[in-house]
Amino acid sequence: MLMERTFVMIKPDGVRRNLVGQIISRFELRGLKIIGMKMLKMDKETAEKLYAEHKGKSFFEDLINYITSGPVVTIVIEGDGVVLLMRKMIGNTDPKESPPGTIRGDMAITKSENVIHASDSPEKAEKEISIFFTEKELIKS
Ligand code: TYD
Ligand code: MG
Repeated sequence: MLMERTFVMIKPDGVRRNLVGQIISRFELRGLKIIGMKMLKMDKETAEKLYAEHKGKSFFEDLINYITSGPVVTIVIEGDGVVLLMRKMIGNTDPKESPPGTIRGDMAITKSENVIHASDSPEKAEKEISIFFTEKELIKS
């Protein structure tokens, strides 16, 4: 059986603010296993695919503009229950509602620039991983 995997992305504000090292440190401190990582600048088409569920919402256009505004760091993490664990580590969508100790709660203030993305279910994780990585690019144990 495949171990659960999740897709994590340090967003353009996180890269711009030089938070990449601190965020990856948290994954390493927690003992999580990174099995893929790459930096890229997303095109509009890819961004719309990643955020397809939000198409038509009031914030969609701003979200696409922001997420394509600079490089992001895409990461795949593998582990038992890692989807839920990563959502706990990143905190709430709105950083103001995110407790200290979470990534958003410690590093962000606004919902529109909240530093990090993580998949919200194992099914979405697999879909999101496949947008950015081929299976060959992921480390097999
Ligand atoms: P969503 O999937 O609801 O949140 P999460 O990133 O926690 O899974 O929304 C995707 C991104 O869209 C969110 O990280 C920031 C942006 N967004 C807004 O700018 N305004 C909003 O009201 C919402 C719900 C999201
Ligand atoms: Mg989401």
